[in-house]
Amino acid sequence: MSKIDVQVTINGEVYREACEPRRTLADFIRKDCGLTGTHLGCEHGVCGACTVRLDGQTVRSCLMLAVQAEGASITTIEGLSDGVELSPLQQAFHDNHGLQCGFCTPGMLLTAQELLEQNPDPTEDEVRDRLAGNLCRCTGYEFIVDSVLDAAGRQAAVAGDA
Ligand code: FES
Ligand code: FES
Repeated sequence: MSKIDVQVTINGEVYREACEPRRTLADFIRKDCGLTGTHLGCEHGVCGACTVRLDGQTVRSCLMLAVQAEGASITTIEGLSDGVELSPLQQAFHDNHGLQCGFCTPGMLLTAQELLEQNPDPTEDEVRDRLAGNLCRCTGYEFIVDSVLDAAGRQAAVAGDA
């Protein structure tokens, strides 16, 4: 099958790679762009491990073709931290034991980040509801929810100090 060029911006960097039209966005990000922080679990839209943000919105990159993302601005887990500095949400996951094997963590973080931008002070139910589409096979859901609520609290404290 002949390849076509796809150009996207990922974490502020422009990538232009030739790929087959049937290439999923997940494979494009991982194999063509070399950003393996985006994980692949079910590969059919159920687990949320492949979640990235496309023009600000979370999407399941296993369900999209790379060609559909032409021209888009994408954030992957590699774009969440500032160099080696963890983002406040990442730090909250670290401090609250919000990960075990870490396989689901990139998707959890990007989904939670979107929630906190839209709703900086979510209730526990709202956090659980938003993360319901992200599966953790280590089943550490309590600590994941605690991490997101802690991150919201820290965010509020910083805003209060400003
Ligand atoms: S790998 Fe995409 S939703 Fe599971
Ligand atoms: S921490 Fe292992 S799958 Fe969630």
